[in-house]
Amino acid sequence: MTPKLIIHGGAGSLEGEAFSFKNYHRGLVQIVKKAYDCLVSSNAREGCVHAIKLLENNPLFNAGTGSKLQKDGQIRMSAAVMGSDDNRFSGVINIRNVKNPIMVADLLAQENYTILGGNEATEYARSNNFKYFNPTTQHRLLEYKQQLLGDTGTVGAVALDAQGRICVGTSTGGVGFELPGRIGDSATVAGTYTSQMAGVSCTGKGEHIINQAVAARVVTRVEDGMTLSDSVDRIIQESNEFNYRLGLIALDYEGHMIVGKTNKIDAVLFAQHDGNTFKTFYD
Ligand code: GLY
Repeated sequence: MTPKLIIHGGAGSLEGEAFSFKNYHRGLVQIVKKAYDCLVSSNAREGCVHAIKLLENNPLFNAGTGSKLQKDGQIRMSAAVMGSDDNRFSGVINIRNVKNPIMVADLLAQENYTILGGNEATEYARSNNFKYFNPTTQHRLLEYKQQLLGDTGTVGAVALDAQGRICVGTSTGGVGFELPGRIGDSATVAGTYTSQMAGVSCTGKGEHIINQAVAARVVTRVEDGMTLSDSVDRIIQESNEFNYRLGLIALDYEGHMIVGKTNKIDAVLFAQHDGNTFKTFYD
């Protein structure tokens, strides 16, 4: 089986105006290439986590370095990962001052607990040698001072390896200027979910994604016999009925890669790699 990888850098996260589509495109292409090499030489989990780590390290994207600030001026980040091989979801919610929340979520998969939140998630990271790191950027500080409330951003990846394993992950800095402690969809099964048949990572307004249980619902319908394409179309249609703002990337066990978005979203910033060709939102 040919490994496949699809990543996203958020939905319509151009409201910051400081960056052009071209920069997002360039960042996503570099990351999808590097992460694809990792996927080929290792497995779906390594490839997926590596992609998200690189996205978190790029200040363009609203995750890790470059995360948005909450109303009290603090950055609280959330991330989750799930593999089809062991059917395990692991996530951290509102973790602070770590460079790569996705790596903490990945480590948590080795514990008997599925999700850790708040200060205890940060303490868990520290006790496992994740050093203090300040993810604030000048650009996000400026947005904060302008009290910019967005509902976009977030990064994610879905990988399929040569053995047919699927791994999905999502990481976010939230929506910006939100009520301190607000929790979005990314580290829930609404925003990040896979089975052996399909995986989905969401972006957009967490409240809308949770209301629709988007990722788990798309995957369940594939499990029940729907094609991935029909399942994505269905959730988008249902979400449009509520005027919801959300997008997603999805990948199934046969390697089909699908991007979906509701009418209220301008674009899902994605890149995909199938071993020979890339495709991005910019092409
Ligand atoms: N989709 C990310 C969030 O709402 O926090």
